[in-house]
Amino acid sequence: MSGGALSDPRLSTLVLRPRPPGLKGWITGQVMVAAPLGLGLLRRFAPLPRFGNLVIATLHDDVVEVFATDAAFAAPYRDKLDVITGGEPFFLGLADGPEYRGAVAAMRRVVRPDDLPGLARQAEALAEKAVAGAGGRIEVVDALVREVTFKLLGDYLGVPPPPKGDIRVWATRLFEFQFADPGGDPALRVQVDAIAPAMRAHIQGEMDRRRATGAAAQPDDVLGRCLALQAAGESWYTDAAIRTAIACLMVGGPPQPPMVVPQALEQLLRRPEALADAQRAARDGDDDLLAGYVLEAMRFDPLAPGLPRHVAAEATIAAGTRRARTVPAGATVLAAFASAMMDARRLPDPKVFNPRRLAYEYIHFGHGLHECFGRHINRATLHLMLKPLLRRPNLRRAPGPAGRLSKNGVFAERLVVEFD
Ligand code: HEM
Repeated sequence: MSGGALSDPRLSTLVLRPRPPGLKGWITGQVMVAAPLGLGLLRRFAPLPRFGNLVIATLHDDVVEVFATDAAFAAPYRDKLDVITGGEPFFLGLADGPEYRGAVAAMRRVVRPDDLPGLARQAEALAEKAVAGAGGRIEVVDALVREVTFKLLGDYLGVPPPPKGDIRVWATRLFEFQFADPGGDPALRVQVDAIAPAMRAHIQGEMDRRRATGAAAQPDDVLGRCLALQAAGESWYTDAAIRTAIACLMVGGPPQPPMVVPQALEQLLRRPEALADAQRAARDGDDDLLAGYVLEAMRFDPLAPGLPRHVAAEATIAAGTRRARTVPAGATVLAAFASAMMDARRLPDPKVFNPRRLAYEYIHFGHGLHECFGRHINRATLHLMLKPLLRRPNLRRAPGPAGRLSKNGVFAERLVVEFD
């Protein structure tokens, strides 16, 4: 990557790109607002509709079936992941098989269950620091959740802030390209073509730097553990494999809590009773119950309406039911997990806010082969990013529009709250 590309004026330093101007921006916003209503109507009257080459699965059973049948309904991410990784395979882009399983197993050796209590403590401490320093008024998307997440996961993975550029911009832009750019915006691609090589070079540089110190495994973070296994002669841990995995975890992980956690807070602020109960759980230190409040609040405004799958081989969804639909190879299926989490056939009283739902009712982190690799980290940390704020007395929206969550496409953009 040339230094010139990163100083290109087209490469915005804003974490979120400015909204598309005029009608296009307005329409995008309206589509996002109307999605729950539209999906609700489909769920009721045509739960597995086909529009040309697109089939939408709206029921809980069908969404789970699509995610679980990965041989027929393949994750469609490979081509764009190749742009991010420079052609190296990352497991999100792979079908099931020895390569997929080997990569996930290799990363499970360095992302460990016994890291979770420490990550939880750190998430809460970082959030407390942000809230304590905010003087009674804080912007939740950037100054709280993005701040906490990038510090927490950057340190954990072993990715320091780059000397030139901003890792929050890099990861968020690559995330947008990978998951939220179905139309292939050429202006975004210009930025991606500068950022992706810079991200790879940054991680490679950190590996080289650590090895040059003669203590490659220090500190004991995910990168350090990979380098220790490399030094021990474990063949999976080549530079390319490590660089790819760490880069893709940076892209796939930290951009998402600043979306769903402020969205959850907005949903709590709309429900004063649930908010008061969540605050009580936070003050009592009942972290499991607090997690229940946050996961349930997320259900009313989850990450996205759904996730796409490419139909690799003709298959029938909901076979044996009246709604059964055979989907031809080459079609796209949208597994609408937001709708699935509102399906009364699987979730009792789905419109009722219930922080004590069963784990299987949620599909926040996908399901089946590609279920979120970071789901245990999420389960351990997301609610703790809000805990210090929820413990503050008289938590309230800031006056005016700043006190209501605004969005920019699929991204949460801004939500200001005040407290005593
Ligand atoms: C709020 C936080 C997060 C949400 C809502 C979320 C959501 C998801 C979802 C829905 C999927 C499935 C994608 C699909 O099937 O098409 C997924 C996969 C994945 N997530 Fe997360 N995620 C979050 C945080 C993280 C974190 C913190 C990491 C890593 C540090 C991470 C790493 C991954 C990876 C590597 C995959 C692909 C797994 C595979 O292919 O086996 N995510 N995530």
